[in-house]
Amino acid sequence: MNNIITIENYNLKLGNFTLNNINLEIKEGEIFAILGRTGSGKTVLLESIAGFYNHGNGAIYIKDTPINDIYICNRNIGFVYQDYALFPHMTVFDNIAYGLKMKKVKKHEQTEIVNEMAKLLSIENILKKYPGTISGGEKQRTALARALVLNPKILLMDEPFSALDPSTKNNMYAKIKSLHKKFKCTIVFVTHDFNEAKKIADRIGIISNGTLKTIRNSQNLFDTYEDPEINKFLGIAN
Ligand SMILES: Nc1ncnc2c1ncn2[C@@H]1O[C@H](COP(=O)(O)OP(=O)(O)OP(=O)(O)O)[C@@H](O)[C@H]1O
Ligand SMILES: [Mg+2]
Repeated sequence: MNNIITIENYNLKLGNFTLNNINLEIKEGEIFAILGRTGSGKTVLLESIAGFYNHGNGAIYIKDTPINDIYICNRNIGFVYQDYALFPHMTVFDNIAYGLKMKKVKKHEQTEIVNEMAKLLSIENILKKYPGTISGGEKQRTALARALVLNPKILLMDEPFSALDPSTKNNMYAKIKSLHKKFKCTIVFVTHDFNEAKKIADRIGIISNGTLKTIRNSQNLFDTYEDPEINKFLGIAN
């Protein structure tokens, strides 16, 4: 399989924090989890993949092109933020339609696409509401819909499920898997929950203190590691 994301010897300094020499290849169509404790650098790494920083050393490629050489509109990357970052003054419908509007998609097509996506995510009943009046789970699905209507090649999600209750989480895991199949995109998501990573991802990278410690197939996630710190994090006896 071809790589869709390639990170080579990437370093990024942000204040006192550093992402250290990250090397990572993500294959087209795979679901990859970035797993780590709070403050380990998960969001910064995800944002780096999205091309939010341009002062890092090393390289991040999408296919064969450095991310920062691709014009933003042509990156084809969807991003679901940790806090969902919905526009508070816009209805759920307008939030989801936002990217389509920017792309100057015709009004009636916008309506069609938004309605179809809302149906897929079971949020048809809240399209007229404002983000301030909907639940966490509804916000999460709205943010996901807003990213998916643009049919991204790469979907980046930052702790998308952390605010949800266990049964809603399980529903969303299944939903994500079916959307991944339907849209044939590559998904990279961030989590601090190793069971969640194992349930959804094909492969998992464990990050600690800005360093990508190891990458594993998810079926081997709980096999013992050489690094005692990882064993401790995953609750594996040494
Ligand atoms: N713009 C910035 N300037 C300076 N330091 C930053 C900046 N952004 C993040 N940091 C620091 O970098 C470290 C990693 O942050 P990051 O947001 O990637 O953590 P995280 O693994 O996503 O944590 P969480 O699970 O809590 O979301 C933190 O110590 C954070 O304070
Ligand atoms: Mg974070």
